[in-house]
Amino acid sequence: MKISKSIPGTWFFIMAISSLFIGLLFGALGGLQYVLPGFLKEALSFQKIRPLHVYLVINWIFCAAAGAVYYYIPYVSGRKLYSTLLAKLHILIQLIILIWVVTGFFMGRFGGREYLEFPPYIVVLIIVAWILFMINFFVTVRPSFKEVPVYIWSWSTGLLFFLITICEAQLWLLPHFNNNIIRDITVQWKAMGSMVGSWNMLVYGSAMFVMEKITGDKGINRSKKAFFFYFLGLTNLLFNWGHHTYIVPSSELVRTISYTISMTELLILANIIYSFRKTYFKTNPHKHFLSFRIVTYAEAWILLNLVLSISISVPAINFYTHGTHITVAHAMGTTIGINTLLLLSSLVLIAEEMIGDGKLFTPYFNRSFIFLNISLLVFWLSLVGMGICKIIAVHEKNSFTEMMARLYPYFQVFSISGIFVFLGLLLVLMPVFKTFLKLGLAKQSSDPS
Ligand code: HEM
Repeated sequence: MKISKSIPGTWFFIMAISSLFIGLLFGALGGLQYVLPGFLKEALSFQKIRPLHVYLVINWIFCAAAGAVYYYIPYVSGRKLYSTLLAKLHILIQLIILIWVVTGFFMGRFGGREYLEFPPYIVVLIIVAWILFMINFFVTVRPSFKEVPVYIWSWSTGLLFFLITICEAQLWLLPHFNNNIIRDITVQWKAMGSMVGSWNMLVYGSAMFVMEKITGDKGINRSKKAFFFYFLGLTNLLFNWGHHTYIVPSSELVRTISYTISMTELLILANIIYSFRKTYFKTNPHKHFLSFRIVTYAEAWILLNLVLSISISVPAINFYTHGTHITVAHAMGTTIGINTLLLLSSLVLIAEEMIGDGKLFTPYFNRSFIFLNISLLVFWLSLVGMGICKIIAVHEKNSFTEMMARLYPYFQVFSISGIFVFLGLLLVLMPVFKTFLKLGLAKQSSDPS
C-alpha cells in the first residue's frame, strides 16, 4: 500500500526545508565570523546570528518530524486525518511563530533562555499549536497501546513530553526557581535535555517506520529489541540531563544512570539499523534504495557520535571538554548526522511514494550526498580539533592571543567546510523541496486528508 498525499504534511516539509536553508545561511555567516571577526559585526553580530541559526535549524527538525507524522498517521491507522482545519491552524500558528521569532531576533528582541531565546510569551503560541497537533494525532490514531507498533509509542511519548518540557523550561520565570541558582540551572537543563529526548522520539519513531515501510517487515517494530530501545529512549529522556549539569552538585547516581542510558540508546539504534540492513538485502534489494542508503549513512554517524559521546561523558574528560567546541561537535554531529539524515530518509521516502520509487535516485543526488557527508566529516573533525587545541592551550597557560593563533587554522577549516555542508544540504534537499512545492501548489482535489 502506498502512502497518500497529505497537504498539512507537505506544507510542514516546505516550512521545514525553508527554515533549514535560512538557518544554514546564518550558520555559514556565523562560521565566517570565526575567521573574519569584524564581518557584519554592526548589522548582524554573532550574538544575533547564533540564536537565529540554532532556532531555525531546530525548527527544521520539529517541522520535518511533524510533516512526517502527518503523512504517516493516516497510513498506519487506516483512517483519514481527524481534522484538516486543526492541521491548517497548526501550520498557520507555526508560521506566525517562525516569522515573529526571526524578525524579533533581527531587531535584537530576546528574553528567553539558551536555545529558546525568544520572549517567553511566544511559548503560549507554541503550546497552542502543539495541542492542536496532539489532538489530531491521538484522535486519528486512537492508539490501543497493547498492540501498536513501537513508532506509535515513540510519537505519542515525543508529543506528550515536548508539551511537558516546553512548560518546564519556563519555570525560571518563577521566583522559587530564579532565586536559587542550583535549582534554576538544574531545572533548565533537565527541561532542555528532555526536550531533545522528545524530538528524538519523534525522529526515531519516523525512522523506525521508514525501516518497516521499505523492508515490508512488520516484525521490526514489534520486536523485543525495538521496545527495549523505546524504553531506553524514554529513560534517557527522563534522566539524560545528568550530563548537562556537571557544574551543579547533583546526585552521582542520576549522572551514572544517565550516561549509561544515553550511550546504550545510540548503540541499540545502530544495532537496529544494522539488522534492518540485513533484512533489506534478504527481502527487497531495490525498494526505496535511496532512503535505505541515507539510513545506512546515519548509522555511521551514530557510531561516530557514540565514540565522542562516550569520551566526553567520562567525568575526568568532561572536566576538560566542557565549554569547548567539542560540545558543539557533539550537538551539531548528532543534530546533523543523526536527526537530519534520519528525517531526510523520511522526506525522500515520502517524496518517492508521491512521484515514483527511484525517481530521486539520480547520479546528481548521489554525488551531492557523498559531498555532504565528506564535508560534514571535515566540519565535525575541525570542531573536535578546535576543542582539543583549546584544552592544550589552557593546559600550557597560553595567552588569549597565543590561543587564538593556535586555533586559527581550525577556524578556517570550520568555516570553509561549514559552507560546503550548507551547499551539500542545499544540493541534496533541492529536488526534495521542489517535489513538495509542486505537491503543495497542485490542485487539492486529490488530497485525502
Ligand atoms: C542541519 C544543519 C545544522 C544543524 C542541525 C546545526 C545545529 C546546531 C546546534 C544545535 C548548535 C548549538 C550548539 C551548542 O550549543 O553547543 C549550532 C551552533 C552553531 N552552528 Fe550549526 N547546525 C547545522 C549546520 C551548520 C553549518 C552548515 C554551519 C556553518 C559553519 C553551522 C555553524 C554553527 C555555528 C557558528 C554555531 C555556533 C557555535 C558557537 O557557539 O561557537 N552550523 N548548530
